[in-house]
Amino acid sequence: MKTIHTLAELRAELAQAPSRPAFVPTMGNLHEGHLTLIRQARALVAGSGSPVVTSIFVNRLQFGPHEDFDRYPRTLTRDAELLAGAGCDILFAPDEAELYPEPQGYKVQPPDELANLLEGAFRPGFFTGVCTVVHKLFNIVQPRVAVFGKKDYQQLMVIRRMVAQMALPIEIVGGETSRSEAGLALSSRNGYLSDAEREEALTLIRLLRGIQTQARAAQVLTPALLQQWEDAAMAELRQRGWAPDYVMVRRQKDLHPATPEELAAGLSATPLVTLVAAKIGNTRLIDNLEV
Ligand code: PAJ
Repeated sequence: MKTIHTLAELRAELAQAPSRPAFVPTMGNLHEGHLTLIRQARALVAGSGSPVVTSIFVNRLQFGPHEDFDRYPRTLTRDAELLAGAGCDILFAPDEAELYPEPQGYKVQPPDELANLLEGAFRPGFFTGVCTVVHKLFNIVQPRVAVFGKKDYQQLMVIRRMVAQMALPIEIVGGETSRSEAGLALSSRNGYLSDAEREEALTLIRLLRGIQTQARAAQVLTPALLQQWEDAAMAELRQRGWAPDYVMVRRQKDLHPATPEELAAGLSATPLVTLVAAKIGNTRLIDNLEV
């Protein structure tokens, strides 16, 4: 595996490749969830000669002023070893001066109806920061396929819509969420948790699975029923000492509430997903489960 820090070197390297790469953008501090996406990228281009490119860049643009940009874990040496083991060919790890040599005044702003709900409502500007850096990385790497995790469900949807509306010639593939054996979604931010918080964090997947079970067992789904499950989950999180931002059961296709008619048509006609974001101690966790 080659580690490359500059745009010029990356472009020169990719110009030698027989076809456009598969790409997995990350912010580093890699775990098994990231590595699974890299193996998936590898499999997608098997036999084509396309290299697998992973980027590591902690993108200041997507962090709010009181978020964890400064303390976000930076572990490049270890990440490079893990990537080599997972079959990555090129690690692109630019520094800030390389990716943002001047203030990034041109931005990619997703539409409000995708980006102002759920995560976007609690992290203003977050999806503009994500879309801007991902669009820029796409222009640099020019991949034919890029893999994103369903762990960040709304991010995957926002990127898919950006690629469609901007007519970028890139296939976007979603990867399943990797979890610990007990069910905790793997995340770089899990490193902030104490042992007790880590144990308590399993509440998220327990609540998501509870809603999934109830939804599959229900004779008829109604907005009031979903609301009741959302409220019960919020109440339980509060009672256990969490500060929840949201628990919401939404349409998979655009993360908006399903209409009464859509709910009445059933889960196979209207696939749903439950999404949760909540803070335990100082750490904000997100998770989701398709119903
Ligand atoms: P990061 O949080 O490092 O995640 C990089 C990719 O790994 C994303 O597509 C994310 O959804 C995926 N991922 C994280 N945890 C996962 C898990 N447990 N299972 C499966 N996939 C998982 O997401 C970002 O970085 C940034 O916003 C980025 C897209 C790189 C733009 O800066």
